[in-house]
Amino acid sequence: MKVSVSTIALSELDVDLLIVPVTEQEAEGGLTSLIEQFGNAVERVRADVSGKRGTTSIIYPEKGSSPRVVLSGLGDTENVDLETLRRAASSGAGVVRSLSTETVAITIPEVDLEKEYASQALVEGFILGSYRFNRYRTDNGQESEVQRLVVQTTTDDKQARRGAEQGRIVAESVCTARDLVNLSPDEKSPIQLSRAIEKSAKKYGYDVSVWDKAMIEEEGMNGFLAVNRGSVDPPTFTILEWKPENARNKKAIILIGKGVVFDTGGLSLKSTKGSMDSMKSDMAGAAAVVGTMEAIARLELPVYVIGLIPATDNRPGESAYVPGDVIRMHSGKTVEVLNTDAEGRMILADALSYAQGLNPELVIDVATLTGAVVVALGDFVAGVMTNNQKGFEERLSGITRAGERSGDLVHPLPMHDDYGELIKSDVADIKNVGGRSASSITAAKFLEHFVDYPWIHVDIAGPAFLSKAQSYRPVGGTGFGVRLLVEFLKEYA
Ligand code: BES
Ligand code: ZN
Ligand code: ZN
Repeated sequence: MKVSVSTIALSELDVDLLIVPVTEQEAEGGLTSLIEQFGNAVERVRADVSGKRGTTSIIYPEKGSSPRVVLSGLGDTENVDLETLRRAASSGAGVVRSLSTETVAITIPEVDLEKEYASQALVEGFILGSYRFNRYRTDNGQESEVQRLVVQTTTDDKQARRGAEQGRIVAESVCTARDLVNLSPDEKSPIQLSRAIEKSAKKYGYDVSVWDKAMIEEEGMNGFLAVNRGSVDPPTFTILEWKPENARNKKAIILIGKGVVFDTGGLSLKSTKGSMDSMKSDMAGAAAVVGTMEAIARLELPVYVIGLIPATDNRPGESAYVPGDVIRMHSGKTVEVLNTDAEGRMILADALSYAQGLNPELVIDVATLTGAVVVALGDFVAGVMTNNQKGFEERLSGITRAGERSGDLVHPLPMHDDYGELIKSDVADIKNVGGRSASSITAAKFLEHFVDYPWIHVDIAGPAFLSKAQSYRPVGGTGFGVRLLVEFLKEYA
């Protein structure tokens, strides 16, 4: 979708459809400025327009030539934030989908938000709300797609342009992550995933190298290899790098994404319905890292970032690892495996201890790690945990703020030492499960054993993949994490 900015008056724009966000106050005030511009057509629907959040009304023009207008409610002016704009733009996109429209304009409302961010939010909401995954539909979804989006504003078009461009890049990067998650598992072996990352790197100008199984063996990533033992497909370890000359940081920020391309649970097999049936999404953390690298390269952010993606599936093949196995991990620590379905922490642990050797400034891992976080926080919000090293509070508030600004919300969970007791093993240093209680936290406590630097863990098991759409988040892969990380890194830069 092409995105541009225009200062031409709304009623003069040459587009098929206009989306006009309206507040409750504007609706109560009788929509006077719209009546001035569009006349009787607006007058006729006036009584039906409330401006309430989530509501939309379509106005058909008096005469043939002028465009249709969709009014999209923002609610009370006082409460309009960036998320309100994203959702209003997405509701507009929902109406657009049912009509045949190639060109759409959306106007920046007169609300108390900086123009750049308002413009970005509208573009994000529109593109994210227009997303469809049609790869496997033989009729291609049979919907016309919007080719061009115009952001209309009266003043400050420079700021609006900057925001619109950022919004387009960020939203497209989220869609990259969604596409990867939505791919059928039989097109998503570790090697195929790595190929897709190489393609993205080439297209957007960041570096990538892919390790094969022999290199992973040589490095001694035995936790990672244990998970792969039941699989017919070899694992890959993909290293992504964005290192611009003007980077603000000397030591890298490392992003690690869980890349379990399919999680059957292994010998601790999952049941199908409501569990294994969505496990193609178990690489959503990896997808978020790829989307983030794409975005920061396209935005040319002045930050030095390395991405690490351990990729494998988790299957119960003949040589699969078994409950009772003791694994000597990459770091040298020993782990008693008591449940092969707790595989994410096995592969992440090795990536985390490999990251140690890269002397990082900060490491953030993003993973669909535990079902328990879905029980705790639902599918709107991810769980976030961090180690108790210096800067602990700044890290937590930094990532939480990035969540609020970007719309990818996170909420902190506690990491007291006592939780660590739950993963003590009778035969090894630690065991890979800590029982039913607080299992999102014991998973993080497990990972903490492999970390000796500032670290943030984001458990995205809830919001990464939806069975029911939420405003601009569709059914299936949501691309959760891309906006969170991009916003965090932007702030950092
Ligand atoms: N990939 C799952 C976690 C998951 C659950 C992601 C639901 C998305 C939605 C993970 O590998 C897993 O199976 N975790 C187990 C851990 C348990 C065995 C300690 C879980 O959460 O049940
Ligand atoms: Zn699992
Ligand atoms: Zn998993």
